Amino acid sequence: MSSAQRVFSGIQPTADSFHLGNYFGALKHWVSMQEEGSECIYCVVDLHAITIEAQQDPAQLHRRTLVSYAQLLAMGIDPKRSVLFVQSHVPEHSQLSWILQCITGFGEAGRMTQFKDKSGKEGSDHTSVGLFTYPMLMAADILLYNATGVPVGEDQRQHLELTRDLAQRFNARFGKTFVVPEAIIRKETAKFVDLQNPTGKMSKSAQTAGGMINVLDEPKQIAKRIKSAVTDNEGVVRFDRETQPGVANLLSILGAATGRDPESLVADYDGKGYGALKTDVADAVVAEFEPIATRTKELLEDPSELIRAMGDGAQRARSIAAPVMESVSAAVGFVRIG
Ligand code: TYM
Repeated sequence: MSSAQRVFSGIQPTADSFHLGNYFGALKHWVSMQEEGSECIYCVVDLHAITIEAQQDPAQLHRRTLVSYAQLLAMGIDPKRSVLFVQSHVPEHSQLSWILQCITGFGEAGRMTQFKDKSGKEGSDHTSVGLFTYPMLMAADILLYNATGVPVGEDQRQHLELTRDLAQRFNARFGKTFVVPEAIIRKETAKFVDLQNPTGKMSKSAQTAGGMINVLDEPKQIAKRIKSAVTDNEGVVRFDRETQPGVANLLSILGAATGRDPESLVADYDGKGYGALKTDVADAVVAEFEPIATRTKELLEDPSELIRAMGDGAQRARSIAAPVMESVSAAVGFVRIG
């Protein structure tokens, strides 16, 4: 990857801890892209968090935004090398979102599968208009920074396609303004599944207790959840997502934690059962998460320092976003005063 790459990505502050899917699917890549020398811009997307009624508790949102920001610092996002900020601190996101909403078709937005899933769960009386326009705000996040690459998990692919369509449409209608970004979705880490229901994605809204591991969980809890992960009756460690989704998931986790290709790990378990694999997965995950949890707790002891860092991040983000927003306004034909 060339150093000319400009990377943007975001995460919602909708839980008291990020989970394993977030971490290995996206956040660990955020850190490695920073280490590889890409220009990285990362955002805690608090405006997206309030699209669901259950996430609108003010004290909870405030706490989770701080916890999210602290976890990103703790896992190695360096605010000197990367821009790390909170979405609501940069008003250009909402401004550009509005304009993008005005070039998005109603039917096109209605086809977003995440909207269909989430609105299905909430029921129409509890589905906000904000949930419907969520993907246009996400497109605004990315396009405001002229990002070339967006590291995300598989579940964000359709949103990235919409973002590309909107960038191309805007450029064709109003003149070349936006870079058309590429999704960066690594096959090996694209989708971690629920430990208790290995046909479904690991997610904070999953219904199974014990199906998810949090970055901030106690080591004992992590080990317990991995040891009780659902496997199958084959008794042989193979990497086959179709026939052995639970075992393939454990191999994917171990691969992501150790930097090895999951398929290449199979040979290590020749003649061994699932117990040995689970022990190694638990050890590797604890080794990865424990220092992050410790550092996150330390950082949370001084919220004023976190808020100061957010202020710096917002200023840096705004210095990129504001000129882009000005060109958008000019392209659309808004009259400039002063
Ligand atoms: P969010 O907050 O749901 O998740 C953050 C990141 O974690 C990835 N992810 C997973 N990857 C693999 N396996 C899983 N089980 C898993 N669960 C979650 C997600 O794909 C994501 O990369 N809409 C976005 C946030 C967003 C954003 C953006 C992302 C807002 N603006 C601009 C990129 C660019 C979301 O809800 O992610």
